[in-house]
Amino acid sequence: MEVVNKNPLDKKKILSKLNNHLRTRVSLEIFDSISSTNDFLLKREIKEDKKMKICIAEEQTKGRGRRGKSWISPKFKNIYFSLGSFLKKEDLSGLSIATALSVSEVLTEFNIKALIKWPNDLLVKNKKICGILIETAKEDELIKVVIGIGLNVNMEYSELIDQKWTSMKLEKKQSIDRNLIIVEMIKKLSSTLIKFEREDFGYFNERFAPLDILRNKEFTLKENPSVTYTGKGIDNKGLLIAQNLKGQNIVKFSSGEVSLKLDK
Ligand code: BTN
Repeated sequence: MEVVNKNPLDKKKILSKLNNHLRTRVSLEIFDSISSTNDFLLKREIKEDKKMKICIAEEQTKGRGRRGKSWISPKFKNIYFSLGSFLKKEDLSGLSIATALSVSEVLTEFNIKALIKWPNDLLVKNKKICGILIETAKEDELIKVVIGIGLNVNMEYSELIDQKWTSMKLEKKQSIDRNLIIVEMIKKLSSTLIKFEREDFGYFNERFAPLDILRNKEFTLKENPSVTYTGKGIDNKGLLIAQNLKGQNIVKFSSGEVSLKLDK
């Protein structure tokens, strides 16, 4: 049975809703099917006049998640979005939080309240709605950053996802035009990237605090479940601050280092 797409990704529609300035800064490519939007931008040369290269696709055949996991990417259902750019800032440790905040602000515009599980999962009532994968590559002498976002929009069923998940449709009880969400994502991310380069990370830290799922909650590391920590926010580089419950000592974790299990 062929699946009918009633809400195709529409380049004209997306670009028409961006203001002139933003439209000239963005180059947008839409694919019916692609292995991974992140892989596409990682391989592609993006150094040219346009500041932000955006790649979106109706489906990914090899969508990638964090820690080597795959990202289930059924056709026509969700948003598989990557943005490639060059950033002048060298320390990118807070970029995943800045990105997660942007997506959470977009979701707020659609009346969905998502909290952030450090470093970059967005959860609604403890169910994952969005995952973020940030990768870098060297192009000439510059570091290219690719921000990959997988947002569950109109997906209602999946037997393949091995964790609790939800989608915008499941939360709102109605389908949502993915093009409108993408427009808001482009707007929000473009201003976030400017702020990320200009402002101190404290700007993002303040906004993150009320959305921080781990704050004052107990969690363990999947690699070492015998030690329990309590979340104490993040520092001004985006590192997680945690208190070891036994020793009471404070430790810091960087995002690549750990995988967390929230204790209920
Ligand atoms: C996670 O594990 O939570 C991160 C998931 C990131 C998925 C997105 S979908 C668009 C982009 N392309 C990929 O292959 N992965 C990211």
